[in-house]
Amino acid sequence: MKQVLVDSHAHLCDEAFDQDRDEVIDRAVGAGITAIMDVGYDLDSSGRAAVLAGRRQEVHAAVGISPHDAAKAPGDYLDQLAGLAKNQRVVAIGEIGLDFYYDEPRDRQREVFQDQLELADKLGLPVIIHDRDAHGEILDLLRSRRRTEYPAGVLHCFSGSLEMARECIKMGFFLSVAGPVTFHNARRLAQTVAELPLERLLVETDCPYLTPVPYRGKRNEPANVALVAARIAEIKGLPVDKVARITTENAAALFGLKQPK
Ligand code: NI
Repeated sequence: MKQVLVDSHAHLCDEAFDQDRDEVIDRAVGAGITAIMDVGYDLDSSGRAAVLAGRRQEVHAAVGISPHDAAKAPGDYLDQLAGLAKNQRVVAIGEIGLDFYYDEPRDRQREVFQDQLELADKLGLPVIIHDRDAHGEILDLLRSRRRTEYPAGVLHCFSGSLEMARECIKMGFFLSVAGPVTFHNARRLAQTVAELPLERLLVETDCPYLTPVPYRGKRNEPANVALVAARIAEIKGLPVDKVARITTENAAALFGLKQPK
């Protein structure tokens, strides 16, 4: 049986793929990837993700304003996102969140993040969360949400503690694991992954960034999500096809994707 996988977080609309976007998607399909989430980070990339998802059946779109793009979002960005989300191929709001690593105005980040959480609740869509060096505030904001029904969303490229992961799971979130789990210095992340139930994990590339071992330094692409699944299987001592199957089911449940035959 062919392995099935979902890349739950990719930036196919990044200019790094302008020359060969369709070949990259074809290569992923050839590697058994049945669905790729193309995740927007500003209005332009969100719009392009929705268009790509309309053109390629393997691609699904998320629309949102990332913390890096919060400061330059126009005044009517929420209306524009709501308009994009009417498209059937848009299945999540993201990526949204907080990033205190870079020197972006934090008040604007908080405001744009909260407004988009509310938009997701209004539209009944899951959220894709970017959290860098902002674990405590992210948890507080997620706890303050009124929404309680599942599935709530995913913390992408999870980098928090095991304790934080457990809190997020309690709130209905999935945790997504990306290329850094393959890095040799990622011992803490490996320990966290070892403890977490496979039923709450997703796999992703975050391509073109975060290329896994052994391709570090090269452009990342969705086909490489197999390397992330293989590393999780190794950490957990499970067969890789089980990791592939369960994470695919998780992504399908979170984003409401049709299960592959
Ligand atoms: Ni991303």
